[in-house]
Order: sequence, then structure tokens, then C-alpha cells
Amino acid sequence: MSLLLNRNSFGDKANRGNVLSKEEAKQLLNDWVKNDKLKLHMKQVAHLMKSWAAEKEQLNEEDQWRWEMAGLLHDADWDQWPELHCKKIIEELESRNVDPEIIRAIASHGPNHFGVEPETKMDKMLYAFDELSGLIHAYSLMRPTGYEGMELKGVKKRLKEKYFAANVSREEIQDACNRAGIPLDEVVQFIIEHQKEAKL
Ligand SMILES: [Fe+2]
Ligand SMILES: [Fe+2]
Repeated sequence: MSLLLNRNSFGDKANRGNVLSKEEAKQLLNDWVKNDKLKLHMKQVAHLMKSWAAEKEQLNEEDQWRWEMAGLLHDADWDQWPELHCKKIIEELESRNVDPEIIRAIASHGPNHFGVEPETKMDKMLYAFDELSGLIHAYSLMRPTGYEGMELKGVKKRLKEKYFAANVSREEIQDACNRAGIPLDEVVQFIIEHQKEAKL
């Protein structure tokens, strides 16, 4: 099954700055995603994107929401239409005249799957957070205290165990950090500190 999008231009420049309201985005999430595990993953990535935009990029609230929205909706079509993953949500957001930068970030969240290279900082951080967030969440579930007391070195150990969260590609994680130009340790530390704040 190929998920290649076979295109490299997304949305319409005329829609720059157009976003869904938080209510509209939540509605779309709830309508399309029935699986709570996936929903939590999307909310975690959304929270990481927003927090990174605020703390590391020092973006204003409007821009923080654009980052958050990309995270919140990046897997919206995975639950019900896995064979159309990425294509369907992109077309939906295009039909709703959403900011092309948000659509592009979603389209490039898995360059090896969708064939779209991450270019902007938003693209690159979504790619960097996606898989790593999942692995760290899996780690929190096997720790008696969850995120409490979690340390960088524990996550690094899990990363080295190839049978832990075996479906999470270590190569992709390293590739994503390289592209973002941010050390893996910094991204891991940021996720440890912020992911626990995201709730279903
Ligand atoms: Fe995805
Ligand atoms: Fe994801």
C-alpha cells in the first residue's frame, strides 16, 4: 500500500493565516477519530507543537495555534481511512481554505511514507515529535510512576532496545532531529517535560 502523495504543493497562498477555530478543529477530531489511543497521541503532539512554538520559537498566540492545529489534526484520517492516510485530511483542509503552511506540515509528517520533504520549522518539528512522542508515551505506560521521575537516560536506553516499541523507527527519529538541527537529547527532554500535560 503506497501512501505517496505525489505532489509537492499544498493549499492556496491566498489562504495564509486562515485557521479553523479550536471548536471546529475539535469537532473534526471527534467526528473522524473514534480510537482514544490515537486521539491522545494527536493531542500530545498538538501540545508539544504549541509548547515548542511558544517556548523555543517565541511565536505569538496565533502562530502557536497554527502549530498546535497541525499537530492536532496530523493523523485525523488514520483511524477510519488508513489507506488514505494524509491524503484525506489534506484535501479536507484544502476544501476548508486552511493556511497552506499548516497543510504542508501535515503532508510532510512522514517523508518516507508520503514523499514530501519537511521544509519549514513547523514541518520539521512535527516530523521530529511524531514518533518520539509515541515511544516516550509507551515508556511512561510501563513505568509505575508514569512521567513522574522519568529521565533522559531511561528514554535513551529504550531507544537502544530494538524490541521496545519496535514499530517506532529509530532511523526516522534521528533523521528528523538532524533535519530540524536539534540534538535528539533536547527533543527528548522537551517531550519528557511537556507531554504529561496533554490529556485526552
Ligand atoms: Fe501519521
Ligand atoms: Fe502521528
